[in-house]
Amino acid sequence: MAIKRIAVLTTGGDAPGMNAAIRAVVRSAINKKCEVMGVFRGWQGLINEELRLLDHRSVSGIINQGGTVLKTARCPDFKTKKGQARAFNTIKKNNIDGLIVIGGNGSFTAAHEFYKRYKVPSIGVPVSIDNDINGIDITVGWDTAINTALSAIDNIRDTATSMERVFVVEVMGRKSGAIALAVALGGGCEEALIPEKKFDLVKVCHEIVEGNLRGKLSWIIVVAEGVAHAQELAKQINDLTSLETRAVVLGHVQRGGRPTAASRDLALNLGVAAVDCLLAGKKDLAVGYSAGKIREIDFKVAIKKKHFKFQRFYDLIKILT
Ligand code: F6P
Repeated sequence: MAIKRIAVLTTGGDAPGMNAAIRAVVRSAINKKCEVMGVFRGWQGLINEELRLLDHRSVSGIINQGGTVLKTARCPDFKTKKGQARAFNTIKKNNIDGLIVIGGNGSFTAAHEFYKRYKVPSIGVPVSIDNDINGIDITVGWDTAINTALSAIDNIRDTATSMERVFVVEVMGRKSGAIALAVALGGGCEEALIPEKKFDLVKVCHEIVEGNLRGKLSWIIVVAEGVAHAQELAKQINDLTSLETRAVVLGHVQRGGRPTAASRDLALNLGVAAVDCLLAGKKDLAVGYSAGKIREIDFKVAIKKKHFKFQRFYDLIKILT
C-alpha cells in the first residue's frame, strides 16, 4: 500500500530536539509528496482527534526551540483497549497510512502494542533525556540535558569551593543512573549515587570527613532521583559529618532549553530516516544512531532494558577525584 498521508506525534516527557525532529519529518515527507498530519498532545490527541495538516511553513522557526510545538503528555488512556480503539478510529477517519512516534522508551512500548493490535505501521524517533533506548548509542536530547546539568554543576562548584561546603545535587533518572554518572564525570564531582549500585551513606560520610582532614573542603555528590531525595540526603550528611551541606534539585530544568548542535543534528537526520523507512514500507521499528551509523532497531528490541557499563563510569569518577 502506498503511503500518502502520515501522522507525527511527540509523546511522553519532552526533550530538547523534539521540534527539530518534527521539522525534519514534516519537510522530508512533503518533499516526497506525502501529506503530514500533526497530532497534538501525543496519544491523547490521537484518541481525541486533535490533529491538523502541517505544511512546509508550519514548522518554520522551531529548529532551535526546546519543548515541542505539538505538545506532549503522559497518556494512561492509551494503555486501555478502549483508548486504542478510539485512536485507531481517528487514524481511519483521517486516512492516515502510518505514524512517526517521537519519544522515548514508554512511547515506543505504546507504539509496539498499538502495532500488534491494529497493524498501523509506525516508526520511532528516539528523543528522550534518559538515553534509555536499547540498541542505540544516544537519544536526541541527551546531549543537551547533560550540558544543561553540567552548566548548573559548574555554578554550584563555584559556591561550593568558595564557602567550603558539601552539595548534594539531584538529577533525573528514576531507574537509571546514566544521567547522574555522565554529569558527575563531566562535572568533576566526587560521588555519584545511582539506582544500579547500592551505597553506604556512612562510608560516603567517612570519605568526606577523611578528605576534609586532608584539606579537601568541598564536595559535590550527584544523586539520581530514583535513589533518594537530595534534601533528606543533605540533612543526613550534615548530621553524620557536621559539615555544612546544601541540596539542589535540578529536576525539570534538565528537560528544557535550546537543543545543542549534537541534539539538533541527530534529530534532523533521524527524522528524515524515519520518513524514508515509513515510505519504504517498514514498520514497528525505531531508527537510531549506533556505532557511527543510522540503524533500524525493531521496537521489541528497542524497548528492552538498556544495559550500560555503569561500573566503568563509576570507577573513572573515583580515579579522577
Ligand atoms: O522524560 C523522562 C523523564 O524526564 C525522566 O528522567 C523523569 O524521571 C521523568 O521524565 C519525569 O516525568 P514527569 O515530568 O512526568 O514528572
